[in-house]
Amino acid sequence: MRTDTSPTIYRHDYVPPAYWVETVEMGFDLDPALTRVATRLTVRRNPEGRTNTLVLCGESVELVQLQINGKRLASGDYQLGNGLLQIPNMPDQASVDIETAIQPEQNTSLMGLYVSNGNFFTQCEAEGFRKITYFPDRPDVMAKYKVMLRADKKKYPVLLSNGNLIEEGDLGDGRHYALWEDPFNKPSYLFALVAGNLVCQEEKFRLEDGRDALLQVWVEEGNLDKTQHAMDSLKNSIRWDEERFGLELDLDRFMIVAVGDFNMGAMENKGLNIFNTKFVLANPRIATDTDYANIEAVVGHEYFHNWTGNRVTCRDWFQLSLKEGLTVFRDQEFSADMIGTASGRACKRIEDVRVLRQAQFPEDAGPMAHPVRPDSYVEINNFYTVTVYEKGSEVVRMYQTLLGREGFRRGMDLYFARHDGQAVTCDDFRAAMADANDRDLTQFERWYSQAGTPRVKAETRYDSEAHTFELTLSQSCPPTPDQERKLPFHIPVAVGLVGPNGHDIPLHLDGAPQENIHGQGTIVLELTQARQTFRFNRVTEKPIPSLLRDFSAPVILEFEYSDDELAFLMAHDSDPFNRWEAGQRLASRHLLALATSSQGSGTSGDTADEAGLGQAFHKTLNDTSLEPAFRELALTLPSESLLADQLEVIDPQAIHRARVSLRKVLAENLREDWLATYHANQTPEPYSPDARSAGRRGLKNTALSYLCELDDAAAHELAQEQYDNAGNMTDRVAALAALVNSSAPGKAAALEHFYTEFEREALVVDKWFMLQGMARATDVAAVRKLMRHPAFTLKNPNRARSLIFSFCNGNPAQFHAPDGSGYAFWAEQVIALNAINPQVAARLARSLERWRKYTPELQAKMRPALEQVARTKKLSKDVLEIVTKALE
Ligand code: ARG
Ligand code: ZN
Repeated sequence: MRTDTSPTIYRHDYVPPAYWVETVEMGFDLDPALTRVATRLTVRRNPEGRTNTLVLCGESVELVQLQINGKRLASGDYQLGNGLLQIPNMPDQASVDIETAIQPEQNTSLMGLYVSNGNFFTQCEAEGFRKITYFPDRPDVMAKYKVMLRADKKKYPVLLSNGNLIEEGDLGDGRHYALWEDPFNKPSYLFALVAGNLVCQEEKFRLEDGRDALLQVWVEEGNLDKTQHAMDSLKNSIRWDEERFGLELDLDRFMIVAVGDFNMGAMENKGLNIFNTKFVLANPRIATDTDYANIEAVVGHEYFHNWTGNRVTCRDWFQLSLKEGLTVFRDQEFSADMIGTASGRACKRIEDVRVLRQAQFPEDAGPMAHPVRPDSYVEINNFYTVTVYEKGSEVVRMYQTLLGREGFRRGMDLYFARHDGQAVTCDDFRAAMADANDRDLTQFERWYSQAGTPRVKAETRYDSEAHTFELTLSQSCPPTPDQERKLPFHIPVAVGLVGPNGHDIPLHLDGAPQENIHGQGTIVLELTQARQTFRFNRVTEKPIPSLLRDFSAPVILEFEYSDDELAFLMAHDSDPFNRWEAGQRLASRHLLALATSSQGSGTSGDTADEAGLGQAFHKTLNDTSLEPAFRELALTLPSESLLADQLEVIDPQAIHRARVSLRKVLAENLREDWLATYHANQTPEPYSPDARSAGRRGLKNTALSYLCELDDAAAHELAQEQYDNAGNMTDRVAALAALVNSSAPGKAAALEHFYTEFEREALVVDKWFMLQGMARATDVAAVRKLMRHPAFTLKNPNRARSLIFSFCNGNPAQFHAPDGSGYAFWAEQVIALNAINPQVAARLARSLERWRKYTPELQAKMRPALEQVARTKKLSKDVLEIVTKALE
């Protein structure tokens, strides 16, 4: 299928480049309609290369002129076609001059050089640099860059690129210039430029080694009141990396720039990080607690890339998780350390695992399943996935679990000692971890090569006479595309045994080699075989096992707990993650039973043993020894998509009904407790986004949303009053959501008020669309109506995501309407987006990839929608890859 234009790229086909690039000098004459780019490369033959042909990539660029060592090439001297410029018979060393012309204004893909709200920005990862000039656009080609920017001074007073500002001045004719030089070698995907009418908040910051660095956060005028949190997060990131990993900022100047049109979250360009506004701009009026936390995480993430990604980069794109998995792990640890409350680490862990289960587990069980280090791709942009990022982070976390924090640090130190300045592979990282700790991590490689979520089944046997407790663990992994059979993984399983008094029993593992793992409450068992039995001695009373503590491996754990055992763990487990987990298991059990018993019928099923669950919830809700943030997590039922993933056949309406009906029961039975909790967790003004306050608001707003399930006048009043008096966006949007999902008389007025109040804040208008996209009453017709709102546009990715994605992914009961109207809508939008922005279109295309999991009736309506997209003319390879794999 269309293999002529979209070939599959294989990891095993890697060949080193025939030429290295040593220096890159670029001159940009910036003009939105037509920008000219003059590039001079000095290239040198790679002794390990196999040819003397210089291969340059180019896409949507016009080649104006080409010279080798100052001599202009005739069209017969090179080959141009299929996105490549090939120059045969190259000398061993040469200077190559390339002049290209590009049209930034026409560039709606938001890759390469483009215009957003009148300003210029770039996005080069993964393969955007080739949309600027012809270049060996692959991450193993690293060079030093010098960049001259020229532009109209009035329209583009600010001219930025990577590294240090060397020179700036006027050119006459109303134009000016800036010359930037980056002292570090870098791959082309880390190149960036920004030009426009921007302002910055800046600060001098003292690094640990005594140097001062200039930190800047650049935004559009009018947003300077929203940069403080990003700046604070940046400073905290710098400190944290110095302390935790001994890694220093290596530049005199570090810039963050916010842009409203951006495909992803943010980009770690050397010294010039470019961010989606969503992950920079915040003040209490427009940003929620979640926004504040996300900004901290993303600022950290991009900053940490400076070492894990930039100083040491990827040999090829199959190694993407080398930098992304590692950097996600680092940002997760950073956020956890920043929380600073007793259960803060556990809460962060729970949130991260929730994302993994909700998004990565389904990916790993569907047609796009791929190993953390993929073996092939058609379009690399389709592989910036939860598997590469979040599962990749879990894989890195497992090193730390197996080697300990200090062992992990030794591995990191060796990794940088060996590879600073290089483009390397996941194997190199694993070797550093193994060598620094004198460990054999050969089998661990399977985490990189095998796709699919492993299942670990646990069985126990207690001998009350011998006082032994046996734990038998067996592992298996289901087949995934191109991988029928799997070999056993090396799985760290953290285990504790909880005694009848609720305390951990000191552990004495039979035959344990090291004395130091005796007597602790938790030990990490290493499961390496298909089936293994571990025996604990001196167990005088029958314990309840607490398995996979802190979620020590990205697996599905199966163990037949009774309801009573789960309630017991929920109340007593010393591992807060497993306390939460026990409650989720209990709730899932009820919800799944409810969903399957009510399938097809309009009513919810048997709720006989909801009493047990209600009691457990009652206890958690009123246990003020638990921090509010933890209680909020424990009182939130598993999401509809998480429940769906646990069913053989998905009936979205049945799942929705089950979840809503259980929420109503919990609301009714615990009404007084919710109300008391609501009032007990008010936060004082002025607003502060710290974790403690955010936790209180989170619990309070959870209480509000349960109370609003009752849909009575008292609840409506409570929500309305909160909406009217909210002093911050967290409380305001929570109240609005509660109103919108109820039959409150004031809901239309509140929606209108919200829009009018925040009309000029794009990020808040996004929230307004999102909230409606996910509202229970919003059907396809309502989404279509919202699309006709003057503020709606498909061209801005945030806006498209706020309505279309939130409906297709966040409103399953409506999206999967039995008449198939949601699927027809989906196909239309994928096709429309495909013509504007293939990357965003391909993301939306993924909403239907798991169509074979649904009821036969729904499948029959999904298939034609997928086929309709597949046969669309001018389909990008991004979308084509997704729908082809889905239909295979
Ligand atoms: N490296 C960036 C990050 O994780 C993501 C950039 C992805 N861009 C893309 N076009 N696929 O922070
Ligand atoms: Zn990243």
